[in-house]
Amino acid sequence: MMQAVCVDVPGRPENLLLRSLPRPQPKDGEVLIKVHAAALNRADLLQRRGLYPPPPGESDIMGLEVAGTVATLGPGLRGNWSPDDRVMALLSGGGYAEYVSVPEDLLMPVPSNLTFSQAAAIPETWLTAFQLLLFIAQVKEGEVVLVHAAASGVGTAAIQLVRLLGAVPIVTAGSREKLGMAEALGAAAGFNYKEGSFVQGVHDFTGGRGANVILDCIGGCNWETNVSSLAVDGRWVLYGTMGGRCVEGDLLSRLLSKRGLLLSSLLRSRSLQYKANLVKAFSRRVLPHFSEQPPTLRPVIDSTWRLEDIAEAHRHMEANRNMGKIVINVLPQTEETH
Ligand SMILES: NC(=O)c1ccc[n+]([C@@H]2O[C@H](COP(=O)([O-])OP(=O)(O)OC[C@H]3O[C@@H](n4cnc5c(N)ncnc54)[C@H](OP(=O)(O)O)[C@@H]3O)[C@@H](O)[C@H]2O)c1
Repeated sequence: MMQAVCVDVPGRPENLLLRSLPRPQPKDGEVLIKVHAAALNRADLLQRRGLYPPPPGESDIMGLEVAGTVATLGPGLRGNWSPDDRVMALLSGGGYAEYVSVPEDLLMPVPSNLTFSQAAAIPETWLTAFQLLLFIAQVKEGEVVLVHAAASGVGTAAIQLVRLLGAVPIVTAGSREKLGMAEALGAAAGFNYKEGSFVQGVHDFTGGRGANVILDCIGGCNWETNVSSLAVDGRWVLYGTMGGRCVEGDLLSRLLSKRGLLLSSLLRSRSLQYKANLVKAFSRRVLPHFSEQPPTLRPVIDSTWRLEDIAEAHRHMEANRNMGKIVINVLPQTEETH
């Protein structure tokens, strides 16, 4: 048996309940992970409310990323995983638990200098940012990339990846503190959207040319400011709708006048093969940079919580208080090994 977080009735954070459930059995090509740490994602808040069900056949336990040790090897594995290996994994669900079973192609080794808490903050967030920048927007050296929600989990990864690609990140966020953190991570300029439109700031920074790429998890309420800030032939990548799902007005003609590309992407619903290719590309191009001395890249941790405090951790994210990732230490810190 194992402890896991369940939601019997979709709704508020207090509906998250710790339960004893059967431990999953690794299927063909899977590895059972003993979870040391898991991290929260915005999608978990929707799933808790019953608005973002897991893909068919996946665990209905929440949690899209974990770090831990290999507990059991399933049948038919091709890789060289061994019991007790330190691993982190991208999940379609099941992370808020003491054990989770994962296809081996979605496992990555934990960089030797990182703790499990730091490693749990990598898979979903960094793979999302990497996918959006490389696979979808195909960012080139020297381009200007406007990243919204700069202090979000995805935002903190995106800023660092844009720099790694030799491009220039500029950002928006809702407080001076969040903008300060984004600038410390590499943002060349930051705009507080609560103090006014970011359009003039982007215009001034780019000499009137606009941003080549916009990473947009806001959607609805930002459509006019986004299209105004987009360069001719720019790519506007929609990957969330925190600011609304509807648009009204002359979006299409304004996008057309810029020859803009409106692209969108979701990671969770992708095929196992797509995710496996993504994990492979990320492991080759990005993962080594976490271990450099000093490290070029770092997961940004806002706070760590116990599994028992999961409801409070959800409230913290829902209130937009986090700067970086909210991590759940499923095993007490003292049991962490480096
Ligand atoms: N498509 C995909 O595959 C994929 C994968 C992962 C995540 N996502 C999306 O990526 C986004 C970030 O996720 P996350 O887990 O990294 O988030 P997070 O850490 O919870 O951060 C979200 C931040 O967004 C800002 N925000 C919230 N509502 C806003 C609004 N209406 N207008 C402007 N800013 C707002 C808040 O910061 P401020 O104080 O700055 O407002 C908030 O702290 C979410 O939309 C999520 O659904 C998509």
